[in-house]
Amino acid sequence: MSQHVRGVVARAKGDPVRVETIVVPDPGPGEAVVKVQACGVCHTDLHYREGGINDDFPFLLGHEAAGVVEQVGPGVTDVQPGDFVVLNWRAVCGHCRACRRGRPQYCFDTHNARQKMTLTDGTELTPALGIGAFAEKTLVAAGQCTKVDPAASPAAAGLLGCGVMAGIGAAINTGGVGRGDSVAVIGCGGVGDAAVLGARLAGAAKVIAVDIDDRKLETARTLGATHSVNSSDTDPVERIRALTGGFGADVVIEAVGRPETYRQAFYARDLAGTVVLVGVPTPRMKLELPLLDVFGRGGALKSSWYGDCLPSRDFPMLVDLYLQGRLDLDAFVSETITLDEVEDAFARMHKGDVLRSVVIL
Ligand code: APR
Ligand code: ZN
Ligand code: ZN
Repeated sequence: MSQHVRGVVARAKGDPVRVETIVVPDPGPGEAVVKVQACGVCHTDLHYREGGINDDFPFLLGHEAAGVVEQVGPGVTDVQPGDFVVLNWRAVCGHCRACRRGRPQYCFDTHNARQKMTLTDGTELTPALGIGAFAEKTLVAAGQCTKVDPAASPAAAGLLGCGVMAGIGAAINTGGVGRGDSVAVIGCGGVGDAAVLGARLAGAAKVIAVDIDDRKLETARTLGATHSVNSSDTDPVERIRALTGGFGADVVIEAVGRPETYRQAFYARDLAGTVVLVGVPTPRMKLELPLLDVFGRGGALKSSWYGDCLPSRDFPMLVDLYLQGRLDLDAFVSETITLDEVEDAFARMHKGDVLRSVVIL
């Protein structure tokens, strides 16, 4: 048995996305079918439809989602029908060299459902990040379902599935921000703003937001940035140093993904400080730095994959903090839309008008 549901499909490079009927198989061993309740629109969905990730069209888009488990396949014990879950794109294997050393957040062999969802003519779909949640239902590996408190709103909880987790995790997991630290965040879109929240949550004393768009800086301040710098008219390195006693920030988070902003991050941190790169560069970008500065400034230059999160550890904890009013995830939900409005939401995202449009199902 399989089910026919509606889902947002990108058929070919650059073509507008369309809602189509997709076929969701019953879950096989280790798999689950999830009834999606909410799914945020992320830049990565747009990159897929522009052919920027790979050429495995057609794609079933959507990957920042929360919903309720509807069916599980044989051998699934961690989740059961009725569970409220946030979907993650790194179901850990438990067996690779990272997992065996007790560092599952770096798992090098994460997995997705084995079976494929298809179009009605049998064409196999590639689900975005192995999720494909701009759909009424989706098939995933059971390990991609992380159970959280069902009191949370699906729109807010689902955001933890990707960009917001990346930003919070860049601060609390990768950057190791601690009480009293000074933190600068370069690029205050959804990811950077989440890093601002993460830094605040971790007890940072100073959180300096840097962007080239005043609207973004205003939002960052409402989320808890203590200072803001518009780097289109002010040198952010000098300003960050001035705001930190002339030295630089303890942790600088780069959430743009460009060599010039990485260089700013590198020089805006204090000696022995940490740079976290959570923005994702493109293949042609190159970085040149004096090696003596890399050595002489000490500290750590780190990259943050998915905020170095471990979904089973981080999602329930962050949902609990959200429910206690200590983590304003609702602030990221700029608007709620229907499945049919994803293409329009891409345009708004591209113009920088929204933090997140969230599809409600
Ligand atoms: N200096 C400072 N800020 C910049 C610059 C720059 N040179 N260029 C762009 N920005 C700002 C934008 O104004 C915007 O606020 O960076 C922010 C980027 O935010 P979004 O486009 O909303 O992207 P976001 O979803 O936050 O992702 C940021 O992280 O996960 C990756 O692929 C993602 O590389 C992207 C990055
Ligand atoms: Zn593993
Ligand atoms: Zn995403």
